[in-house]
Amino acid sequence: MVTKRRVGILISGRGSNMACLVEAARAPDYPAEIVLVLANKPEAGGLATAAAAGIATVAIDHRPFGQDRAAHEAAVDAALRAHDVEIVCLAGYMRLLTPYLVSRWAGRMLNIHPSLLPEFKGLHTHARAIAAGETEHGCTVHLVTEDLDSGPVLMQARVDVRPDDTEATLSARVLAAEHRLYPEALRKLASQPLPTADLTS
Ligand code: GRF
Repeated sequence: MVTKRRVGILISGRGSNMACLVEAARAPDYPAEIVLVLANKPEAGGLATAAAAGIATVAIDHRPFGQDRAAHEAAVDAALRAHDVEIVCLAGYMRLLTPYLVSRWAGRMLNIHPSLLPEFKGLHTHARAIAAGETEHGCTVHLVTEDLDSGPVLMQARVDVRPDDTEATLSARVLAAEHRLYPEALRKLASQPLPTADLTS
């Protein structure tokens, strides 16, 4: 029996990557269990998916916090700690994080990004890859640091860009690769010794 790391997943939308992590974590020999799915939007479709899978869910709407990102992040952090989370996976979490939350989860927070980082940080990655004439594209799981989409790469998956690809066809192919990659990347991180959490900030 492996020791399962306790994982919280942050989402903003449909949560298809989250659902793949939940599915992978069902295996007895998978080194992580999903103990919380948290959304910054109460209407995020992934919340219902997670609840149906028997996972605890929390919505912490960022809108009532206005410009006070720190206060919203403090509430998110408190929810993660209340569930004894050890690793955080961002999965389509569409909020820029401040150094506060990033530093508290340094070395323990993953993100999945739909490009072969360091290429195409930010949004609209598939359209930009096509426009740039790339023949290869893909996705990356990386540790989260203060700079957007810039932390150390844990794993990447490549897909070919076909001559007739549209943003829709390419994004669908990359998403299928994401669904295979994220469970493998979380397996890798959860199998390693984790840094001690920094709760001083
Ligand atoms: C994925 O493409 C992910 O790489 C990006 O946002 C999308 C989330 O999709 N960060 P889903 O909510 O996991 O279906």
